[in-house]
Amino acid sequence: MPATHRPRRRAALLVAALAVLAAAGAVAVAPAPPAQAAGTLGDHAAARGKYFGSATDNPELSDAPYVAILGSEFNQITPGNSMKWDATEPTRGNFSFTPGDAVVRLAQQNGQLVRGHTLVWHSQLPAWVNGVPAAELLATMRNHVTTVATHYRGQVAHWDVVNEPFNEDGTRRQSVFQQRIGDSYIAEAFRAARAADPTAKLYLNDFNVEGVNAKSTAMFNLVQSLQQQGVPIDGVGLQGHIILGQTPSTLQQNIQRFANLGLDVAITELDIRMNLPRDAAKDAQQANEYRAVVNACLAVTRCVGITVWDYTDKYSWIPGVFPGQGAALPYDENLNRKPAYSAIHDALAGGTTVDTTPPSAPGPLAASGITAGSVNLSWGASTDNVGVAGYDVLRAAGPTGGTFAVVGTPAGTSFTNTGLASDTTYRFQVRARDAAGNQSTVSNTVMLTTQGGTGNPSCRVTYTSSNWGGGNGFTGGVTVTNASATAVNGWVLVWTFSGGQRVSQMWNASFDQPASTVTATNMSYNPTIGANGGSVSFGFNGTFTGTNPNPTAFTLNGTACSTG
Ligand code: XIL
Repeated sequence: MPATHRPRRRAALLVAALAVLAAAGAVAVAPAPPAQAAGTLGDHAAARGKYFGSATDNPELSDAPYVAILGSEFNQITPGNSMKWDATEPTRGNFSFTPGDAVVRLAQQNGQLVRGHTLVWHSQLPAWVNGVPAAELLATMRNHVTTVATHYRGQVAHWDVVNEPFNEDGTRRQSVFQQRIGDSYIAEAFRAARAADPTAKLYLNDFNVEGVNAKSTAMFNLVQSLQQQGVPIDGVGLQGHIILGQTPSTLQQNIQRFANLGLDVAITELDIRMNLPRDAAKDAQQANEYRAVVNACLAVTRCVGITVWDYTDKYSWIPGVFPGQGAALPYDENLNRKPAYSAIHDALAGGTTVDTTPPSAPGPLAASGITAGSVNLSWGASTDNVGVAGYDVLRAAGPTGGTFAVVGTPAGTSFTNTGLASDTTYRFQVRARDAAGNQSTVSNTVMLTTQGGTGNPSCRVTYTSSNWGGGNGFTGGVTVTNASATAVNGWVLVWTFSGGQRVSQMWNASFDQPASTVTATNMSYNPTIGANGGSVSFGFNGTFTGTNPNPTAFTLNGTACSTG
């Protein structure tokens, strides 16, 4: 198809998609077409009744290869900065629309929907606003909302009317508007926006409201109360500035609860940032998490679309604001597609998939650093067809019976459980969760007894090591003495190396060393450690990096031992 015809075809698709959106609620999402390699993200999203867009910013518009992808791949645009207060009303009463107009014009040429961002926000607010007397600020805010929304009337499909009104705990952010106008500033801003542009969909937008949490619940309560007061609000924007590994497992549930209020929901500023540098594993995990976000939106009819906060790492805001982090977007700095692009594409192009596949069981679970009140747990990662969202650490009291209850929900593969009673036996397990809420089966069970508050541990470990001359090899020797009045029948001794040591060969015990933690188990011929001072010894050869420090903590069948 000649390039000149392309915008018209895109516009027609978009109109069709918007018609579906406008019919709100009662309309089934169009069935997915077969995946086509050539289909753009915007085309596939439109076929599902949604948009897939990108933020952009005026300085980037002179980058021709960038603009070409922006115009062809996405069916929605948000100006990253040029409609904010400092851009549109830099001095009181003097409005400037040139940069915002440039973005709108580009979007119109490409047949793209425009989200306006943003009318009332505490940030990127010119200093003069802080000098407006309290008695004049409501009129000043209304004038700003009215003038900007009137200027863009008919050209902006959605407005982020108020941005970021909440603190993390769900209380109101003490912006100048909150302080001088009070709680009602939000309702007043929405009323002014509706009066200025009756056709734009009006949104409340915030960050860290993607999952069900205190902040999103405050947002939920506020929009319900605005609805009850008859305030014109049409949607909520979940910004979606996500840290890799922290895509909330409750995202779809959260979108659904807002949709159930009769609101549209948009994911307005999606990026998934990682600690730099990128590597293949992080890219793969990022792809999984982008896919999970797209699937969560696809699963809820009233989730109208997703915007990435620019589409390329070349123009991402992340490295400048979060030092050491970045690579958050589906295209790299050279405008090459990353695994995240394919994941987004395939999710949009695929059929309506409900993920019912649970992650694999995590494990092996191991305990270390057992004290009188705490234990460090670590385990091997689970895998999942979409992505592991996190783990549940489960604990039961006593050597048998009792109920396993969740004591922690870490995103990664380790957890420290504190607040334990001294000289008490506990059992631990861990299971994995994915973003759709599927749970894996549980790992192996680790049983341990916390150290006595004052009493003597019932076992003692003597550890020796000697390095081989010149190289990085060494020989270790371990003697375990049973100081209790009961013989041990069957023993497992566990310790963790801190110097990169790896056991290569062991005698008088068998060993397992998935990472830094070593598990040594009796042979068939030496399972017993006699009572009242009986002992067993075993040895091993290994390698080390650096200085080969001795391990400092050992557990015998889960009970911490003294050393020396
Ligand atoms: C960011 C822009 O991308 C940057 O260019 C600018 O310097 C700061 O603001 N939440 C929002 C966006 O609502 O407006 C912010 O955009 C990112 C966080």
